[in-house]
Amino acid sequence: MLRGGVSRFTAVPAMVVYTICNQKCMSRMGTVIAMTTSFGNDILPMFRPGDIACMAAKGVRLGDADWMGDPAGNDDFADHANARRVFAALSSGFMPPGHRWSQDSLDIYASWIGDGFQP
Ligand code: HEM
Repeated sequence: MLRGGVSRFTAVPAMVVYTICNQKCMSRMGTVIAMTTSFGNDILPMFRPGDIACMAAKGVRLGDADWMGDPAGNDDFADHANARRVFAALSSGFMPPGHRWSQDSLDIYASWIGDGFQP
């Protein structure tokens, strides 16, 4: 706290803090601590209820951590075929219809893949 009882963090908009901490969090000592991207914290919140409902009806279980993190491959992908197929649809702009994901959102999904599909 600074003199007068005003927190030194008061002027930092919540969105900025969220954006920084979503990928890497800086401690008060200035050390950069890598944060692991996880399905529950980072991926699931990017799906709208309508995305989950629409795709569940087609067998693509976007809201299901076990399905999304399934390590099994298929003819198209050597491993984690569910998550990689979803990423292919997102990154090509094919899905969701009329609501292409931003590059930032795609980068977060790519980080989740890179971090090993953590639940
Ligand atoms: C984040 C949002 C979404 C994701 C990640 C997603 C993902 C996918 C994936 C992976 C496929 C299969 C593509 C393939 O490999 O052949 C697909 C197909 C499809 N999706 Fe989505 N989807 C999303 C949102 C939606 C929404 C909101 C709708 C409906 C309004 C929708 C309607 C469809 C339809 C009609 C197909 C084609 C199904 C077929 O005939 O095979 N999707 N989507």
